[in-house]
Amino acid sequence: MAKRIKIGLIGCGMISGSHINGYLAHPQHAEIVAVCDTVDENAKRRAAQVLAGAETRATEATANAKKADAAEARERLNENAARWAEYKENGVKIYNDYNEMLKACELDAVSLATPPFVHEAPTVAAAAAGKHVFCEKPMARTATEARSMRDACDKAGVKLAYQSGGTCLDPRSYAIREYVTSGKIGDVYYGRLTSYRVRGRPNVDMFGFGRWFLNSVYSGGGTIYDIGVYAINRTLYLLGSPQPATISGIAYRGMLPEYTGEEINDVEEHASVFVRFTNGMSCTFENGWSSNMAGQPQGLFIFGSKGSFSNDKLYLEKGEWDTDDKGNRRRYRENLVETPLELPDRHFPDKFRDFLNACNSDAQPVSNGDIGLNVTEIMSGALLSAKLGREITVDELYDIEALRSEPTPGWPIP
Ligand SMILES: NC(=O)c1ccc[n+]([C@@H]2O[C@H](COP(=O)([O-])OP(=O)(O)OC[C@H]3O[C@@H](n4cnc5c(N)ncnc54)[C@H](O)[C@@H]3O)[C@@H](O)[C@H]2O)c1
Repeated sequence: MAKRIKIGLIGCGMISGSHINGYLAHPQHAEIVAVCDTVDENAKRRAAQVLAGAETRATEATANAKKADAAEARERLNENAARWAEYKENGVKIYNDYNEMLKACELDAVSLATPPFVHEAPTVAAAAAGKHVFCEKPMARTATEARSMRDACDKAGVKLAYQSGGTCLDPRSYAIREYVTSGKIGDVYYGRLTSYRVRGRPNVDMFGFGRWFLNSVYSGGGTIYDIGVYAINRTLYLLGSPQPATISGIAYRGMLPEYTGEEINDVEEHASVFVRFTNGMSCTFENGWSSNMAGQPQGLFIFGSKGSFSNDKLYLEKGEWDTDDKGNRRRYRENLVETPLELPDRHFPDKFRDFLNACNSDAQPVSNGDIGLNVTEIMSGALLSAKLGREITVDELYDIEALRSEPTPGWPIP
């Protein structure tokens, strides 16, 4: 029987509600025992949400158990109702300092919903205390921070997952990765990813977000760190986790409507990135919070020597030669045949369950510290390359990042 993972939530702002709902949805696998925020009011509000959410679920499960025909379903609903009801007895502990929480509270894992500049330190502290870590995206502001987080968790033998929207946890993503890595579409040499919003800049076009979003000191960067991170994560997974070798990026800002807030806003609104991988593959990533592009196909396009993926559509090349009377080849008649994907016959967990499963087994979460590190190398490398106006190697990225010291901003766009 898998252990119920005791969770301490760190950071009780906007997105933390989704962590609470995510763990409450798995009462047999997780239990939220503590919440922590430097702002006491935020911690208290989220603690109350945990208790209210558990109570509502317990009531609903009890009512549904009475209506259920199958004994097995009744038993499961009653068991879950009992687990949710335990929250009323046990309560949820409240902390304002995560080091205190790690010391005082019996936890198996922490769930980090703090801004990017508060990802590395709590991850390293939690790992040192032997706790697994689920970290919000982006994993970190710099590759150096991401590497320190990955290494701390590896050294401590704890799991590190980072929030990637569950972008890899579905049958299609799994199948595409299988086609790419098994050679079924031949030698995969190139990928192209495009993802744009028309108007979707936090605190510029839409409001209510944390004050740190537009300041590279705190966020690491703009669109690429906020939303590009999901698409880059899925792309690396589908391409079979290639290792970035060199990165060339360009970044822009200045779309209308103008920013009218009072906080520093020095982050990019559009980034185009070209990455060469150590295995010879390459990929371009185009990402924008704000663009005037309509009618442009978006998504991931994968180029292989025997076939391709245009988003989730698989095309296999089945062309033949036209020959003359003597059998000499005259013209190759290409024939790209749209082919149904062979999908795996298995269930895929959501991102929280994927993390909980990893805590209870030898498995790694799908979006783990290794892939998070590569994603961060691409994000930080893209903005550094944009600033330098040239391609950089990943080794150079670490060398130049080492010259930074707090509170130096990321690689802001003038
Ligand atoms: N807001 C969104 O739509 C959204 C969506 C997906 C992911 N995310 C990611 O989630 C993370 C948090 O984003 P958010 O929008 O919830 O930010 P937020 O600013 O709303 O909340 C962050 C919370 O962390 C707390 N905090 C800061 N330093 C702390 C510390 N040392 N110890 C404990 N608590 C501390 C703050 O007081 C605040 O309550 C970010 O990495 C972000 O990229 C946000």
